[in-house]
Amino acid sequence: MKSEISIKPFRECRAAAALPGSKSITNRAMILAAIAGGRTVLEGALFSRDTLIMADCLRKLGYMVHLDSDAKRIEIESAGSGIPNSSAEMDVGNAGTVARFVTAFVALRKGGNYLFTCDGAMRARPLKGLIDALKSQGATFEFLGEENHFPFRMKTCGLHGGEIAIDAGESSQMLSGLLMAAVGADAPTTVKLSGGTVSKPFVKMTLSMMAQFGFECPSDGETFTVKPRKAGAGERVYAIEPDATAASYFATLPAVVGGVSELPNFGGCALQGDAAYVDVLKSLGLVKTAKVGDSLLVFGGDGAAFPETAEVDFNDISDTFLSLAAVAMLLPFKLKITGIGHTRKQETDRVAAVARELRKFCVSVEEGAGDILITPYTRAELREKLSGETPVETYDDHRIAMSFAIAGCVDIRGDGSPWIKIVNPECTSKTWGEFFEVLYTVREDSRKFRVVAIDGGAAVGKSSVSRECSRILRYMHVDTGAHYRTVAYGLLERGADSSDVAKVSEKLGCLEIGAELEGNSAKITLGGKIVPDSEIRNERINSKVAEYASMPLVREFLKNYQRSMADFARSHGFDGMIMEGRDIGSVIFPDADTRIYLDADEQTRAARRAKEGITDSIKKRDDLDKKRKTAPLVCPEGALRIDTSHMTKDEVVERTLSAILES
Ligand code: DC
Repeated sequence: MKSEISIKPFRECRAAAALPGSKSITNRAMILAAIAGGRTVLEGALFSRDTLIMADCLRKLGYMVHLDSDAKRIEIESAGSGIPNSSAEMDVGNAGTVARFVTAFVALRKGGNYLFTCDGAMRARPLKGLIDALKSQGATFEFLGEENHFPFRMKTCGLHGGEIAIDAGESSQMLSGLLMAAVGADAPTTVKLSGGTVSKPFVKMTLSMMAQFGFECPSDGETFTVKPRKAGAGERVYAIEPDATAASYFATLPAVVGGVSELPNFGGCALQGDAAYVDVLKSLGLVKTAKVGDSLLVFGGDGAAFPETAEVDFNDISDTFLSLAAVAMLLPFKLKITGIGHTRKQETDRVAAVARELRKFCVSVEEGAGDILITPYTRAELREKLSGETPVETYDDHRIAMSFAIAGCVDIRGDGSPWIKIVNPECTSKTWGEFFEVLYTVREDSRKFRVVAIDGGAAVGKSSVSRECSRILRYMHVDTGAHYRTVAYGLLERGADSSDVAKVSEKLGCLEIGAELEGNSAKITLGGKIVPDSEIRNERINSKVAEYASMPLVREFLKNYQRSMADFARSHGFDGMIMEGRDIGSVIFPDADTRIYLDADEQTRAARRAKEGITDSIKKRDDLDKKRKTAPLVCPEGALRIDTSHMTKDEVVERTLSAILES
């Protein structure tokens, strides 16, 4: 019986997903390390079936390969120059990069005789373009199964350089493998594309990594001129980027379940085309992002209007198409994905496989040779259709397993009951053995509760930044300006003018204040009701509130109430609280985890108010707020002061988020 895993739905991801190193970069780096010679240390490497197969092949070829999976480090060392062993028997499993890269690489050996075996699925995967190219350099092949496919025996005589034509139309890995191997050729090699290639970003990755290893290969995208370099004895350390395709699952998660997903070390990824997947999600309005330190934060979009049908060309980032296709059954629009014909020849026929599985959940799935159109039910209709748990077949394809697992996280019935089970989940070990563990951790509330104080004068952008950051982080938001406004309203209603301290004191005693949640904002209530904005945001209150706010007894009255808001947030399940005002970081929460003081020049603030159609004597209010004796508006000592005058709102939000998350 096949194994299965039920996906337990949850609401809102909250934690950081520990991403594995990039498979594509790890396997390229291993080949480049072997070509470079000497000793290479790869940091942040991926340990998965495909990279272990690569390590095994290099060992069989005579390289010393040290693996330290805890430290995520691989060391590759060779004594002499060139491939040590002239004969070896290597099993490439179903690892596309190993199959293509090692086949091209061993062609460098003069007098080599190598036997390649493989898994069943690899027997059908394309190789002809590379075989023809290597034959043109003198390599000979004896096919043990089908012509131009694995398994085979290969006799090699070195690469002599010159011009080599290659048809990489069925897989860019053939071109990448040939380009890397050509570094070890006897003379400069000009590689010409005879039939185009797919997945150009992967070719770009190969070229960038060759350059990082010091190998020259100028190109115009059609012709590549590889300069030869003999293997040397040098030492180098190379850092592997986190895997962008793996990141695509955890970037998709907040788009469908909400919350925020933190992708550590993913903020500066430059080599992987698949990093552009996040831009696809952004362009569809499904997520927003912010770079915070080295991390990328991905959070649910703000529900802007969606198109009726969205069409996305995935040709350049086809490894990620399943990440979106699998959740298309949950999106509020029809989705057409194009440019994916070549994925029919990957681990499985991915277009056919995803279509077959999606039909279990969608109104219709139309398959073209190189595209797919998915028409989802609404979530309510889907809920109606579902009974129990629907098994999703994975066809020994790790990406199908991971993509549908993300869809299964959505709490479709609202009671946390699983509705998807993944058949043969072990297939994820191909690239990410810990995937299901990581998926489990992002549902845990592993973050500490944080109190954030944001102070500043009127119209510095405090409110919009506090609201946006609270929305993104799922923190509770508290606007203490509204507390003073509501109290001013209550006192004015009761005829207690700010000049009459005794009356204010008496009437304060009659004010019954409380709190109520409106979305993620905690609103102050007066006599059990939230006083409407129209009553507290008008010229009558504007002209009086600063006077009340300067009275020590009014401030004392609100102090404990405001401090109690942290417990209110905790008891309502928030991860933290952002409280904005004038004295939050100085008086109310001087030990807040993060204290921020926003500022802007006079002109900018007046312009912002005018744009919002607000006429208010800001300067007069600010002067009063700054000069009062009790809790004057100041930048608290040790707080982070941000001058927002020349910053966009998004920039201030990003700066604030990083200050919060780094605390
Ligand atoms: O942020 P706002 O404009 O709504 O604030 C209204 C008034 O309340 C403002 O004049 C300053 C005062 N206030 C204060 O003194 N302390 C706070 N923590 C918040 C507001």
